[in-house]
Amino acid sequence: MLPWLQNNQFPLYLAPMARYTDTVYRQLCKREGADVVVTEFVMAESVLADEPQVWENLHYTEDQRPIGMQIFGSNPKTMAEAAQLLEHRLKPDFIDLNFGCPAEKVTCQDAGASLLKNPSKLIDIVESVVDAVPGTPVTAKIRLGWDDQNIVAMDIARELQNCRVGALTIHGRTKVQGYSGEGRWEIIREIAERVELPIIGNGNVKNSRMVKDIRDNTAIAGVMIGRAALGYPWIFNEIKQHLETGTQPPPPDIETRWNTIVAYAELLSARPARQHHTEQIKWMRPRLIKLTKDMRGSKKLRHDLQNITYLHQLREVAADQMKKELTA
Ligand SMILES: Cc1cc2nc3c(=O)[nH]c(=O)nc-3n(C[C@H](O)[C@H](O)[C@H](O)COP(=O)(O)O)c2cc1C
Repeated sequence: MLPWLQNNQFPLYLAPMARYTDTVYRQLCKREGADVVVTEFVMAESVLADEPQVWENLHYTEDQRPIGMQIFGSNPKTMAEAAQLLEHRLKPDFIDLNFGCPAEKVTCQDAGASLLKNPSKLIDIVESVVDAVPGTPVTAKIRLGWDDQNIVAMDIARELQNCRVGALTIHGRTKVQGYSGEGRWEIIREIAERVELPIIGNGNVKNSRMVKDIRDNTAIAGVMIGRAALGYPWIFNEIKQHLETGTQPPPPDIETRWNTIVAYAELLSARPARQHHTEQIKWMRPRLIKLTKDMRGSKKLRHDLQNITYLHQLREVAADQMKKELTA
């Protein structure tokens, strides 16, 4: 049993989110209470080709442990070799296999969610990776199925019980649903009741009430939080405190929020892969917009953030917002 799933610990996972859950953001979420983090997915072939961006995406600091590294691909042998290389070079706490990505550029390669249409190949990949990395636990992440007519999560979960995987994350939507609509937790719940494998539930987890209900009334072993954590990394400790004490801490004040955002931007800009951009933060705008979208005057703020290019401009926006908030 994975150590963080022992004794009904009910861990909160930060979901892997490409282009958002970089090493600095994972560190931030971990500091704010995430129990387990997973890197954004990298293509097995890119790992084997030693592409520099892969190593940047998988970079981590020791305080992020336990950390899972996620790979995707369609060839069992290549997936196994990539897992071996990661095990050897980066020593993750677990390797996670992506069978849920709905993006055309992934499914057209017969990878990600398209493997839900080919469960026997999906199982081949899992078995091949599990055999290749005996020293590292392997987990998988799936969706319910390709579409409503093809819900295969229960069948896959049953098969995976015999594959020595450490846990299965189920995103309660189909590929066709993409990211819209509510997650169908009744299906995840039923799977968790019927299979031996620890099931991590995922899909629209937004508040502590929902998490408490899942923990107290289902056999689901933990939850994974995606978009709700992108704008608000504090969600983890808020949920945890509610689970432990029944009361929720007050949200962070505006100063804490802005200081966190500026510190995040500074740390990310200092990453080796970004240093040649010096202070340029154009590429970071979507992340900054997510982090501020529930703030007062968010429409204007969005406009301001869309027009900044340098860190000093971000500091100016932050100072201006804090001043406005204090005098409001
Ligand atoms: C921008 C973005 C990038 C994502 N990248 C990945 C990824 O690399 N690997 C993965 O397994 N899921 C990825 N996902 C899916 C999330 O991990 C999660 O399953 C999904 O967002 C549902 O959870 P939520 O409703 O809490 O957001 C991504 C989602 C988003 C929004």
